[in-house]
Amino acid sequence: MAAYERIVILTGAGLSAESGLSTFRDKGGIWQKHRIEDVATPEAFLRDPERVLTFYNTRRGNARDVQPNAAHKALARLEAEFPGHVLTVTQNIDPLHEMAGTTNLIHMHGEISRVLCMHCGARTPWETDLTVDMVCAACNRSGGMRPDVVWFGEMPYRMDEIYSALTDCDLFISIGTSGNVYPAAGFVAEAREVGAHTVELNLEPSAGISLFDEAIHGKATVVVPAYVERLLTR
Ligand code: OAD
Repeated sequence: MAAYERIVILTGAGLSAESGLSTFRDKGGIWQKHRIEDVATPEAFLRDPERVLTFYNTRRGNARDVQPNAAHKALARLEAEFPGHVLTVTQNIDPLHEMAGTTNLIHMHGEISRVLCMHCGARTPWETDLTVDMVCAACNRSGGMRPDVVWFGEMPYRMDEIYSALTDCDLFISIGTSGNVYPAAGFVAEAREVGAHTVELNLEPSAGISLFDEAIHGKATVVVPAYVERLLTR
């Protein structure tokens, strides 16, 4: 394996699947049970806030009882032991990367364990159910408290930092994501553009498979620890 210095890792729902959290587009996945336009857009929240909050309350409850798996732990080990720079960008709103020990982490789609006030922009840690009549502790207004997650039609978080890391990386690893949702699905093309080696670790070929130089298909808890081991012992 070549000597790399700057790694960007993109993760998706498949990474947390073996921790017990549902993916979105697999058989039986979240988008087979709910329509995106009913629960994951700003318009849905304006139309029926209760329905949207109920959807995310369930997801917050599910995320509360799970533990990081061997793949999350391997990525934390990579960050700790790799002599170069490692940035992990996750589309996941669960806290499993940080629970495993990853610190240089961007939650580009937000975090389920935080609440955002639409009136004043205050962001606060929040572990219990949200209700429509909640009052913001910062501005005292009600009706605007939403999960601090990015909905369809909204701009993901910290994109400048992400693009700056992508245009400076020499290894890009995409893990557990189907490659259907932009801008994340476009990261592999950005990394290729600057000559980075691009690797997919996923259960099956993603939508962007043709843009990867290398692909290893299998369960994250198997293929991710093995790939990390290869990187650290080269
Ligand atoms: P998807 O559900 O679209 O894709 C999950 C991918 O993980 C699929 O390609 C599966 O084959 C793979 N997979 C499933 N189990 C796996 C396992 N045990 N090991 C490895 N891979 C496995 O989820 P994402 O690509 O993360 O956004 O979805 C991207 C975004 O779409 C989400 O962040 C969310 C969703 O709508 C928003 O809600 C804004």
